[in-house]
Amino acid sequence: QTMRRQFGNVVLCGFMGCGKSTAGQLLAQKLGRDFVDMDTFIEQRENKTVSAIFAENGEEYFRSCEADACRTLTRRSGLVIATGGGTLLNTKNVEILRETGIIALLQPPYETIVQRLAGDHTRPLLERPDKETAMRKLYESRMPQYQAAADLAVTAAESAAAAQELAALLAK
Ligand code: S3P
Repeated sequence: QTMRRQFGNVVLCGFMGCGKSTAGQLLAQKLGRDFVDMDTFIEQRENKTVSAIFAENGEEYFRSCEADACRTLTRRSGLVIATGGGTLLNTKNVEILRETGIIALLQPPYETIVQRLAGDHTRPLLERPDKETAMRKLYESRMPQYQAAADLAVTAAESAAAAQELAALLAK
């Protein structure tokens, strides 16, 4: 693990709204590494938003973009990568990301996530009348998968604190 930790990528995973992008950016600054947000990477490649990809091409196509992004980004090393909330549900993605880096789970309290996603309309999976129920179901089914894939986890509610905790864990 030490080699992956020092020379590989640091890959942030967790549920939508857990702070992957914010904590990732802060962590990259602290470590002096480049930061890549996988959703943004895909949006730039496809030249449209994640919502538009879901609406126009379907979720399956988006998942293939994610798999592609994993393959492409892992050719580089020393990055901080924020995945999307669904990236690690594909075991092939987990494999490739783990081989080339260390996977860290961001696990703030569920209430924090609910608050962050309350007014959000950029996540197609949550754009439904039963948002609250759907979200809890998704959260409960996914959390064990994130936990199984991750090398380490932090539970801070605030992204700045999460980045701090992560930096400390990585320095060990
Ligand atoms: C998804 C999470 C989103 C984005 C897409 C699908 C998911 O990323 O990739 O809407 O399946 O959980 P964030 O985790 O950054 O919201």
